[in-house]
Amino acid sequence: MTAQRPPLRPETLAVHAASHRSPFGETSEALFLTQGFVYPDMETAEARFKAKGAQGFVYSRFGNPTVAMFEERMAALEGAEAARATGSGMAAVAAALMGPLKTGDHVVSGSVLFGSCRFVLAEILPKFGITTTFVDGTDPAAWRAAVRPETAAIFLESPANPTMDLVDIATIAGIAREAGAILVVDNALGIPTVSNPLALGADVVTYSATKHIDGQGRCLGGIVLGSKAFIEERIQPWLRHTGPALSPFNAWVMLKSLETLSLRVCRQAENALAIAEALEGAPGIERVRYPGLRSSPQHDLCRRQMTCGGTVLALDVAGGKRGAFAFGRALEVVKVSNNFGDAKSLVTHPATTTHERFTPQERAAMGIGEGMLRLSAGLEHPEDLVADVLNAARAAAAVAAG
Ligand SMILES: Cc1ncc(COP(=O)(O)O)c(C=O)c1O
Repeated sequence: MTAQRPPLRPETLAVHAASHRSPFGETSEALFLTQGFVYPDMETAEARFKAKGAQGFVYSRFGNPTVAMFEERMAALEGAEAARATGSGMAAVAAALMGPLKTGDHVVSGSVLFGSCRFVLAEILPKFGITTTFVDGTDPAAWRAAVRPETAAIFLESPANPTMDLVDIATIAGIAREAGAILVVDNALGIPTVSNPLALGADVVTYSATKHIDGQGRCLGGIVLGSKAFIEERIQPWLRHTGPALSPFNAWVMLKSLETLSLRVCRQAENALAIAEALEGAPGIERVRYPGLRSSPQHDLCRRQMTCGGTVLALDVAGGKRGAFAFGRALEVVKVSNNFGDAKSLVTHPATTTHERFTPQERAAMGIGEGMLRLSAGLEHPEDLVADVLNAARAAAAVAAG
């Protein structure tokens, strides 16, 4: 009798899952940089088109062996039945909403979102007769109250970009189930290996693979994960016919990056915590928002639904925009950028970049002040990062005092 083995853990799956080797037996996944495929005869071509690609590849806009390895590996990591990759995180979010929704449907969404996610819900979907009610994501009663008979989807980011507010995913999944709506979670800041929305009851998860999955600032990419039926019936036709495909080269980079994802994210999260602890109460810093901090009002929820506090924190710097810009000018190790999840530590001023298209009142309602910064911790030595941010906080304090 063979001994029963426990299921493979995420670190192992991230290295080995879905390594479909060519007859050459390569160790590194093969890069199939091809647009199309040739068939032994027209009968085979006819059969593959009839089977909609299920019996072999047809065209790389909707299926490619390297991209498929990335999709299958991600599905294994997340415990999803199926996944489809896209050319960017926004293509994944758009597909997860446009694929299943139709005119007359209603969406309930957390109000704090990445600027482009909010644009899709507030500006693009209404053109097709799909409306959204935005609620305070931290208040389950507000989600429940916003549900209507025509609510077909609930959308959230947790942590939300850029405030790092967490949403209680299991509770919102219960509300979605009662409403007969699908729960779509954009887990760009939650990260595979840190938070698993499907295990908490979500139906669909999207990622910007541009962030931690690549993790080294090279390629754009995205992915939608869910049940086989949802992916095949709602997502695949949308992607096949509108065409936001992930390039095989980018899929290959993402596959290699998945191998180091958990190591990178663990170290980045330790660095984020070190920065958060150093800046809490420091001169020039009014508030540190990081769910991994024991003092965070969301620390208990963080412990329930995440393995750590994540790699990104939000800071409210004294002196408003002038203080925040002085903080940015004084940094030497941390770079000013609008990305996150990178090996390099990066800082962003959301009010003038990712969320600049909102009015000051709309930003204030989302908790995004003029002095707020989003800081993504990288892989540098923690003491170098702490020294850098403390120096920057002193610069902000001097500006605020003057
Ligand atoms: C929460 C969230 N979702 C989606 C995206 C979009 O990702 P991409 O830039 O890969 O399109 C971002 C980008 O910052 C994001 O922060």
